Amino acid sequence: MAQRSSRIPGFYKLPIEERLKIVKEWANLSDEEVELLRRFGNLDPKIADAMIENVIGGMTYPFAIATNFRINGRDYLVPMVIEESSVVAAASNAAKMLRGGDGIIAKAGPQYMIGQIHLVKVDSPHYKAFKILEKKNEIIDHANQQDPVLVKLGGGARDVEVRVVETRRGPAIVVHLIVDVLDAMGANAVNTMAEAVAPILEKITGGEARLRIISNYAVYRLVRAWAKAPPEAVGGREVVEKIVDASALAEADPFRAVTHNKGIMNGIIAVALATAQDHRAIEAGIHAYASRTGTYKPLSIWDMDSEGNLVGTLEIPLQIGIVGGAVKVHPIARIALKILGVKKASELAEIMAAVGLAQNLAALRALVTEGIQRGHMKLHAKNLAIMAGATGELIDKVAEQMVREGRIRFDYAKELVEKYKKQTQ
Ligand code: MEV
Repeated sequence: MAQRSSRIPGFYKLPIEERLKIVKEWANLSDEEVELLRRFGNLDPKIADAMIENVIGGMTYPFAIATNFRINGRDYLVPMVIEESSVVAAASNAAKMLRGGDGIIAKAGPQYMIGQIHLVKVDSPHYKAFKILEKKNEIIDHANQQDPVLVKLGGGARDVEVRVVETRRGPAIVVHLIVDVLDAMGANAVNTMAEAVAPILEKITGGEARLRIISNYAVYRLVRAWAKAPPEAVGGREVVEKIVDASALAEADPFRAVTHNKGIMNGIIAVALATAQDHRAIEAGIHAYASRTGTYKPLSIWDMDSEGNLVGTLEIPLQIGIVGGAVKVHPIARIALKILGVKKASELAEIMAAVGLAQNLAALRALVTEGIQRGHMKLHAKNLAIMAGATGELIDKVAEQMVREGRIRFDYAKELVEKYKKQTQ
């Protein structure tokens, strides 16, 4: 049989139905499978087709609400989109523990992003770096001419930094354009400005511009969250001590720090997905920040104060927006923002940092007490029951029995579902 070719010229120009037909044939998909793919759910196929290329269908993730959050003295219902069980319950639980006193406090700094312009073939690069700084105002003015709307709203290019970076291809000049992007994620504004000022930089240096792009290492867009919980809120002094032990291990061991941070990202990315953020940018920036000392470190630290309270802090860069991009286009993202009631990107950043901190507390508390599996298993049991054909009340009945008996397995779920179905016939 001749080998099949994935080279399909003009695939991108075909209507969704035609693309579906090709893929159906390629993968021998059944009519039911095609029907499922074709179901776009709450996203209009026309919008989906305009968002990315070569669309053939939609994929729905659960959209849930974390409850109990009190951040900066205000209560929030927090939308979360995630495929992993227990995350939403854990966030809501920890938010309850942190409701007392001031609740969780979170503060975002300025919404500054960095645009990088990379210059090569520059003679005397250190001297030319200074020549660039000499023309700082001209560069900033030219950048700002690219986005009068941003400038009118109070944002725009603010500063220019220059470094000489030794690369294996020789020295390069890297110019950083610092831009206040206000309520946007900022990639479009910053990339446009970086491209626009590149010819000026070439003229000043006599070099050639290569890359002109945002840096996702958003070190000037930090958000901090902190909280205090009395020992009784988390299960007593012993639990506080154990959570602090867990934090200390993450601070000392990158293998643990990565998993510790993964727990934080469970919360942050779930909110990012619900609000249609560029979660790849968020992840890239946050993990780079975790490594800023040269060693990968936890993003949060838990400690015990002199009164025995558990106190936690978290610091991360967050590049998010509430205007432009998918946030504007995806109707569910707009609903998520309405549920949150946020009016500024900085407020959304504060919520996301708070959720990350709560998520982290929930994970550490579970790990140092009953272990993570018990909670996970309850939902896993429900999933198994559904897969085994349970519907309605039977889902909980089968799941609860499997948990009670410590037999959380698909074959047993099937056996129970069949048994109970027969009983009701
Ligand atoms: C699982 O998704 C997240 C945890 O592994 C986080 C942690 O270990 O801190 C439970």
